Amino acid sequence: MKGIILSGGTATRLFPLTATTSKQLLPIYDRQMIFYPLNTLIRAGVEDILIIVAPDHSGQYLNLLGSVFKNCGIHLHFEVQKVPRGLADAFILGEKFIDGDNVTMILGDNIFEDDLHEDIKGFEKGGMIFAKEVADDPKRYGIVEFDKSGKVLSIEEKPENPKSNFCVPGIYTYDSRVIEIAKSLKPSARGEIEITDINNKFLEMGELTVKKIKGEWLDAGTFDMLLEAGRIVKEKELYKLFDLRIEEAIAGFNNELKVFAKKRLL
Ligand code: TTP
Repeated sequence: MKGIILSGGTATRLFPLTATTSKQLLPIYDRQMIFYPLNTLIRAGVEDILIIVAPDHSGQYLNLLGSVFKNCGIHLHFEVQKVPRGLADAFILGEKFIDGDNVTMILGDNIFEDDLHEDIKGFEKGGMIFAKEVADDPKRYGIVEFDKSGKVLSIEEKPENPKSNFCVPGIYTYDSRVIEIAKSLKPSARGEIEITDINNKFLEMGELTVKKIKGEWLDAGTFDMLLEAGRIVKEKELYKLFDLRIEEAIAGFNNELKVFAKKRLL
């Protein structure tokens, strides 16, 4: 299983914060947001990970993550997305990296409490997404409609009249056919190639699994959600759910920073 973190985008809803840095490098309590999706993949047993970033921010990502994982089995790769063409673009940009394997793509601004290890380890073929029941404003997301037996009837992107309160959170697992499907997509009315179209394709083929999750799912894309994410992470102690290798990487990085600070090089 390969992993992709889609960490580009323009983050217009967070202007002016994102005029000077990437959304996914903003802090969630005591660390940069990107560590959360990274941890979700690593906890799920994914160790070969491509991070897709916007052109202006590649240097910042390399400074933070370029050399933190040494000899611990985690391999990070970086790719630039020149234009934010949509979530499905991750699989086109990642074609060479995926190289015929299965792939899990996670959005760089999504924070999950659940350990998805068993689902992702157990994945064999087709597509697998998750569904999370939300209390309000499902219109902002992809929405899954289930029948009484739990069978998926439809998936709609940001519908005017949502057929359920079950949203599709930003983590998606597919086999490598996803690349050709992504390449065949036409941009939607908002000019993006949509992951919902990929999910509908796998649904049509009878090969889409949707699993309900119960734990916290946070999408830190607005000021309120960014603040809320930090608060929930602190209150529920989600910052304690990190893989030891990430903790060691951060500690090592902090030590290097301290040495630089002492020499007044920072
Ligand atoms: P969004 O939050 O939909 O878009 P955005 O981050 O550009 O923000 P805004 O709507 O405020 O302008 O994107 C969800 C995640 O996917 C986020 O982590 C950015 C990432 N993304 C890309 O990396 N490339 C893309 O082409 C798109 C559309 C999103």
